[in-house]
Amino acid sequence: MKNTVVTFQEAKQKGEKLSMLTAYDYSTAKLIDEAGVNAILVGDSLGMVVLGYEDTLSVTMEDMIHHSAAVARGIKDTLLITDMPFMSYQTSVYDAVVNAGRLVKEGRAQAVKLEGGKEVCPQIRAIVNASIPVCAHLGLTPQSVNAFGGFKVQGKGEAAAQKLLDEARAVEEAGAFALVLECVPKALAEKITETVHIPTIGIGAGAGCDGQVLVYQDMLAMYANMKPKFVKQFAQVGEEMRNAFAAYRKEVADGTFPGEEHTFKMDESILDRLY
Ligand code: KIV
Repeated sequence: MKNTVVTFQEAKQKGEKLSMLTAYDYSTAKLIDEAGVNAILVGDSLGMVVLGYEDTLSVTMEDMIHHSAAVARGIKDTLLITDMPFMSYQTSVYDAVVNAGRLVKEGRAQAVKLEGGKEVCPQIRAIVNASIPVCAHLGLTPQSVNAFGGFKVQGKGEAAAQKLLDEARAVEEAGAFALVLECVPKALAEKITETVHIPTIGIGAGAGCDGQVLVYQDMLAMYANMKPKFVKQFAQVGEEMRNAFAAYRKEVADGTFPGEEHTFKMDESILDRLY
């Protein structure tokens, strides 16, 4: 069954957990869709796990549109949420609506995600008024890595926890249909989840959230540059890939690949007539 923003709202009401994974290309999106995962996030983590940057700040609208459109071609039932990259919505409400519109029209996103709390509520309101569903993102918001002074857990002290709770109420009030909580203490994520009426999707925020999201390269052990505490590796695909690449290299070197079964035949008497 097709997942939509309505499915998300119903899941919260029924207490059913939501699953979300990132994807950036057609083939992976198709596999995730076939596995029945509720939503795919074309995250701006693209910058790190696909494009090799050290953070998400250099990702452009063109990057997001290109990868979102590829993912869209691979999915059937999964809800497609695409990240608004750094400086595509912070600059003005107008820019936010225009760029959210491009992600829908050109990237075929079914919803967009943006980072921040009260300061981006005018943008959330305007995008929602343009009939584009918005997923909010609070806690460790990677586009603020320089302001935070690194990738750190957020909301540990009383003032910071109160601020996060207030921000969660604000983004819900502005019209967000879901809220990603990244690197937030478990107990605070539970409090936020009980407080707001929209589903919370946790990453490093504990099992009390209404759903979970992971970067697929992290959960398949394909990205070794950093391994956050909250990541569970569900398979060692990185190791499998490295072994397969090495086996291929060896078979090419020793001439065992390609075998007869991988080759095409012809009437070889033709060769005698060639000059
Ligand atoms: O960009 C991304 O992949 C994200 C998730 C980590 C939530 O925002």
